[in-house]
Amino acid sequence: MKILFLDQSGKPGGAELCLIDTAKPYQDNCLVGLFADGPFRHLLEQQHIPVQVLATQPIQVRKQSSLADGLGSLGGLAPIIAKVALLSRDYDLIYANTQKALVVGALASFFSRRTLVYHLHDILSAEHFSRTNRRLAVTLANRFASLVIANSKASQAAFVAAGGRPDIADFVYNGFDLDLYQNHRSNPIQIKQQIGCDGQFLVGHFSRLSPWKGQHVLLEALAHCPSDVTAILVGDALFGEQDYVEHLHKQVAVLGLEDRVRFLGFRSDIVPLMTACDLVAHTSTVPEPFGRVIVEAMLCERPVVAAGAGGVVELVEQGLTGWLVPPGDSRKLAAAITTCREQPLRAATIAHEAKLQASQRFQLPAINQQIEQLLCRATGKHS
Ligand code: UDP
Ligand code: GLC
Repeated sequence: MKILFLDQSGKPGGAELCLIDTAKPYQDNCLVGLFADGPFRHLLEQQHIPVQVLATQPIQVRKQSSLADGLGSLGGLAPIIAKVALLSRDYDLIYANTQKALVVGALASFFSRRTLVYHLHDILSAEHFSRTNRRLAVTLANRFASLVIANSKASQAAFVAAGGRPDIADFVYNGFDLDLYQNHRSNPIQIKQQIGCDGQFLVGHFSRLSPWKGQHVLLEALAHCPSDVTAILVGDALFGEQDYVEHLHKQVAVLGLEDRVRFLGFRSDIVPLMTACDLVAHTSTVPEPFGRVIVEAMLCERPVVAAGAGGVVELVEQGLTGWLVPPGDSRKLAAAITTCREQPLRAATIAHEAKLQASQRFQLPAINQQIEQLLCRATGKHS
């Protein structure tokens, strides 16, 4: 099967990292078209996945646009829609991996008469998107897509609740290459020393710095934890949330946490860093569509405390494979961190069970096979 993948971002967020794994099996017969240049292109090239940057100017990505903004930006998309329509004639399928990619892919698929698939990595709710953007996504998917692959049951349910057609909606979790988690050589004690957290109880937060990812909730919680609890914030403001970064630095100063918090910026060595943590915290303040970092922590056999909403409750079973706390509740988060610190044996048992379950449920080859079957059904073709 020949696939034209489309993604609006030049930066490697979770949806883009997932796309690398989805596109890899098709690397001899696919192209990934990006609407912006950036480090994501290099990651695709390193994996020998054909990639082309289709737009010279990055297309503005806004989750909260009004109808006027939306219609205005549609006009600006005309050249890229024409380009994709032309390119897609050489492919069986257009696979839109983001919302802007859906807009472009839907209209291009109409002109080139190619099958359209939408991989939905978002929860289409009012907490995440303006009414206009939700309606646009649902209307285009309903009208043009043969298949919507949601990244969790929660994302699938939100799509249907927003008016999406249930008959085209399915869900497939992200897959993970287990080798990356089993065959790495790193020394957790050495890493802890390198980041200056030797002998401390280290909580890791791995996410782009963005208000809804809730790093501020972890900082608040830290102020209520014993003083040997320290945190690393791994990630950068990928989509320009610089004000939030400043807010976090100020919050660290106000709470007097300068010695207990390190900002490590965007890192590619997630597995060794996670392995050095005593606990991985996920703190999104609104429902997380899936939450790759949670599965990654489980595969690293690290205990996880996560905000129990959205796809997260499909990943973590309270008390068995991790701890769930209400989103935004820093007191409960502090209590869970403290419990984990005080009960290392229980934490290790939970982390072990989580690793076993995650290794069964999120194996990349099986996940890729699920996607392949759905694509074959959508196109009526065999690979
Ligand atoms: N990540 C990374 N470097 C960083 C921070 C995060 O490679 O400095 C990765 C992380 O390991 C995960 C992804 O970015 O695979 C984030 O995906 P997730 O689904 O957790 O959240 P998203 O940002 O996509 O909403
Ligand atoms: C998006 C979602 C995240 C999910 C990722 C991969 O970036 O925000 O929850 O894990 O896509 O599907």
